[in-house]
Amino acid sequence: MTDFALFMGQILRRPGQVVALAPSSPALCAEMTAQLDPAKGPVIELGAGTGVITKAILDRGIAPHHLHTIEMNPTFHAHLQRQFAGVNHHQMSAADVGDLGLSNVQAVISGLPLLSMPLTLQRAILGGSFAQLAHDGRYVQFTYGVTPPVARALRDDMGLEWERSARIWRNMPPARVYRFSRSTPPN
Ligand SMILES: C[S@@+](CC[C@H](N)C(=O)[O-])C[C@H]1O[C@@H](n2cnc3c(N)ncnc32)[C@H](O)[C@@H]1O
Repeated sequence: MTDFALFMGQILRRPGQVVALAPSSPALCAEMTAQLDPAKGPVIELGAGTGVITKAILDRGIAPHHLHTIEMNPTFHAHLQRQFAGVNHHQMSAADVGDLGLSNVQAVISGLPLLSMPLTLQRAILGGSFAQLAHDGRYVQFTYGVTPPVARALRDDMGLEWERSARIWRNMPPARVYRFSRSTPPN
């Protein structure tokens, strides 16, 4: 089975979790991973799916043992294990990302349908991510929408700032990438 067919099959079985028309395009994957640096700390990927962004992260030179994927879907998780040896694959909810207990993480790269999630779940994901990010680390999230893909209340509570990319037209549907950081890094 091709990766595309696998993705489409899981959209039909779990539409509320996958929440996409197709896997992210090469152009979107390139923008999501553009600022990764092999000389910096580990990388966490949330909602890895069939692994199109996983591959782009590794293609940027991130060592497999420095990459942690989190994917709750058991079919996708098994596929990731087969395709990307040496990477740390975790079958669990991104709500528990804080349990990884990492430090100095350079980026959390999220393919999650974050805005469609309840605020409590968004809070757990963002809180657990920023607990592990380096002071200059970024939470990277794409969106098909026109507003920042983190609930406003959470952005305000956590003091998040962001940069956003130009619209990436070569994706189905077109998307933007947001890079969130804390406006006041902890001492
Ligand atoms: C829009 S797809 C993105 C897949 C892939 N990263 C890409 O860009 O093509 C969303 C992925 O997030 C996963 N997902 C949704 N909710 C999740 C959660 N709470 N914890 C972990 N993974 C989740 C889905 O199973 C799916 O693989």
